[in-house]
Amino acid sequence: MKYRTLGRTGITVSEIGYGTWGMGGNMWLDGDDDENIRSLHKAFDLGVNFVDTALVYGNGHSEELIGKVLRGRQESVSIATKVPPINRRWPARKGTPFHEAFSYDHIVSCTETSLKNLGVEQIDLQQFHVWNDDWANETEWQDAVSQLKSEGKIRFAGISMNSHESGNGIEAARTELIDAFQVFYNIFDQSAEDKLFGFCREHNVGIIARVPFDEGSLTGQLRMDTVFPEGDFRKSYFTPERRREVLSRVEELKKFLDSEAGSLPELALRYVLHDAVVSTVIPGMRRVHHVEANCSVSDGRTLSKELLGKLKRFHFYT
Ligand SMILES: NC(=O)c1ccc[n+]([C@@H]2O[C@H](COP(=O)([O-])OP(=O)(O)OC[C@H]3O[C@@H](n4cnc5c(N)ncnc54)[C@H](OP(=O)(O)O)[C@@H]3O)[C@@H](O)[C@H]2O)c1
Repeated sequence: MKYRTLGRTGITVSEIGYGTWGMGGNMWLDGDDDENIRSLHKAFDLGVNFVDTALVYGNGHSEELIGKVLRGRQESVSIATKVPPINRRWPARKGTPFHEAFSYDHIVSCTETSLKNLGVEQIDLQQFHVWNDDWANETEWQDAVSQLKSEGKIRFAGISMNSHESGNGIEAARTELIDAFQVFYNIFDQSAEDKLFGFCREHNVGIIARVPFDEGSLTGQLRMDTVFPEGDFRKSYFTPERRREVLSRVEELKKFLDSEAGSLPELALRYVLHDAVVSTVIPGMRRVHHVEANCSVSDGRTLSKELLGKLKRFHFYT
């Protein structure tokens, strides 16, 4: 496993981090806690030292699983979690008043609940689970972050940007209270490269790249007839139109598999890690063999300029 630095936090993070939305069990319905626990152990065995979770993932279940696994281990693992919006609306819509999403008390009380769920005294990175940059100058979130930092309940604060809105958070970061961004970034949505990467390079803000596999289509496992259980988030995400769109692109991508990347998941992860401004990528993983495959990608090799150039034209989310 290779390591990078999470921007100005100075935290050393594994290139392959760990996404645990699926482990919540309430929106991804084909998982199993025993396998989740084995997968987390395997990841820590293989050098993963950064985990992303959220209070809302299974109403604390994902946080509790991580806490349970880490209590039995010696390694130092950094944990990022998230404060959900009060109105439980993802993403935050343009024009949503700040107080419908966050308040000082809500930020503090959610942090305290997450500390209990995780069984730790300090959260390494507390993130806002939705954002709208119209709120950048609201003093309540700033005061809550400053207070939680000064009490040692959180070390750093971040914004988990709304999907496909990779500039929406930059104004908040100008306050210098935001130490890292989590952003939707993969072969199909490369827009973080437009504005965000330059800003983060200049201001030394860490980048956590999420959804590297486009929720699964970039693993090559999705088919036109794949059935997701009722209530599983992917049932609504992968509409027939989206399936047609992504599957035709995936067929094209397969033609690039060779010595640079032998599989689609490998190509997807190597793409996300090609720019050093990305601190860590957090694939969602609930199977030991996925953990093993993904961890093996962090070997110091990068994609050639030629292949990166060809992958440019696969960007299509707007
Ligand atoms: N708004 C937000 O803040 C937000 C939104 C979305 C995601 N996130 C974070 O980002 C993380 C990653 O995103 P995601 O989990 O939604 O999607 P993702 O990482 O794009 O895809 C996860 C899917 O890929 C599969 N997979 C993983 N490695 C594989 C491999 N080597 N071969 C084949 N399949 C593989 C997983 O299977 P298994 O699960 O069966 O192993 C799962 O079905 C989340 O877990 C969460 O921590 C945050």
